[in-house]
Amino acid sequence: MPSKTPIYYKKDANRYFYSIEEFNRYIIKKVKKTINKWRMLEIDSKIAVAVSGGKDSMSLLYILEKIEREFPSELYIIHVDEGIKGYSDKNLEVVKNASRELGLPLYITSYRELFDYNIDKVANISIDERRFAPCTFCGVWRRWAINYLALKAGADRVATAHSLDDEAQTILMNILKGSLENILKLKPYPERVDNIVPRIKPFRELYEKEIALYAMLNNIPYNDIPCPYAEEGMRWDIRIWLYEQEDQRPGTLFNIVRFGERIVTQTCIHEKAKEIQRINKCSICGFPSAKSVCKAHELMLFLKKKAMK
Ligand code: FES
Repeated sequence: MPSKTPIYYKKDANRYFYSIEEFNRYIIKKVKKTINKWRMLEIDSKIAVAVSGGKDSMSLLYILEKIEREFPSELYIIHVDEGIKGYSDKNLEVVKNASRELGLPLYITSYRELFDYNIDKVANISIDERRFAPCTFCGVWRRWAINYLALKAGADRVATAHSLDDEAQTILMNILKGSLENILKLKPYPERVDNIVPRIKPFRELYEKEIALYAMLNNIPYNDIPCPYAEEGMRWDIRIWLYEQEDQRPGTLFNIVRFGERIVTQTCIHEKAKEIQRINKCSICGFPSAKSVCKAHELMLFLKKKAMK
């Protein structure tokens, strides 16, 4: 008999869940539906799962491992070490254990190895000198590093654990920055560009709190230490504001994400996007870039120039 006390109330759909099994079925169904809706995977995809060690990416790893058992696909774990003392080391430990437990190959790199800096070193530079929050460097470098590792693994898809909350935050951040280009990069379907492994986000329709509950109810191992720099970035402020909005007006996050999808998928704007994103190559790494040097290496050069002064 199901308990009378719900384990979860899905406010935007006015729906109650009374058992772990019922909740798990909902999560798996939702992830499968999102994958199918946007044709994220082929039957035999080679999927590199970007795993930081936090609850979202660890849940993604365990869910994909479960779903993909039905298919002749391959899974790899890719992990980027940010070099944040007391945080990155714990992440690495969690990810290595998961690789052993699930028997999946693990590919690792670090910002130090790729860009000569780690995030602790960036954070030690005064804000006047570095101009941006550590999160800015971390976000741009992570994107580059994940693609680098996915290419190295021979993957044809990179799966990231971005949730509905993350997507809504990103759209709003880019509206505030006036960056249509960045919103147009948020394609819900895998896009083919030379040297860039197509990205998929199977959690893009799940609330962060749903992922957290899934991790908790299913004893998914993860690093629960928060990143010490998380609150310094613009995303943090938007995140807090959006929580309030969602609480008062359930469905707000979905509305923002649907709005972003409409912008991306409407053909005329999409064609314009192709023009805006005309592909050049970064003169340092050779990866596609809007300018002559990609953002990841632009930030690295910026720090090096400052250090030389
Ligand atoms: Fe850790 Fe941004 S640097 S959350």
